[in-house]
Amino acid sequence: MLNLGILISGRGSNMEAILKSIKRKKIPIKPTIVISNKADAKGLKIAQKMGVKTEVIESKGFKGSRSEYDKKIISALTKNGVTPKNGLVCLAGFMRIISPEFVKKYKNKIINIHPALLPAFPGLDAQKQAVDYGAKFSGVTVHFVDSGVDTGPIILQKVVKVNDGDTEEALAKRILAKEHQAYPEAVKLFAEKRVKISGRKTVIS
Ligand code: GRF
Repeated sequence: MLNLGILISGRGSNMEAILKSIKRKKIPIKPTIVISNKADAKGLKIAQKMGVKTEVIESKGFKGSRSEYDKKIISALTKNGVTPKNGLVCLAGFMRIISPEFVKKYKNKIINIHPALLPAFPGLDAQKQAVDYGAKFSGVTVHFVDSGVDTGPIILQKVVKVNDGDTEEALAKRILAKEHQAYPEAVKLFAEKRVKISGRKTVIS
């Protein structure tokens, strides 16, 4: 069975949705480590309560380069069996750009969730971008991580309607509910080895 590592920075609601779903739906993957770059991330307590080991690798004040920081992450993942061969890494609200070295080592083994329909509204504040732009629909994208920002092959997307008069907060809340469905679904597809990458596209069997 594959081992799963989840990287968080804060609330951890997507991590929680993934962990719950693994238990409930018997997804063939074992969550072995949750890593946060912030000691006060709320998600850490949730993971511990759910019986998953946690580790903090503080990024604030870290003196080395991005790739030196990521080496620490890679070492924690490896120690817990999350290897490129035998693992999956989920970025779940992990508020750091990861180094090209990390992406290369875990090629097509790192996935991320983004609160918009990529390629629209990449980067920060995606929900605000959608509201400000006047988009009629936005949504959720789960995608592989490559060396760009929110540019890797898309695994799945879900659509959320933008209502007239929506605030960023109102839209974000509805998108988050969809995120909690989409991320576990994508992990399931990956764990069941149903995601094949072909160029920049994925084919789901
Ligand atoms: C989510 O909206 C996710 O799409 C974005 O960061 C947020 C993380 O929320 N990348 P949570 O920590 O999973 O609750």
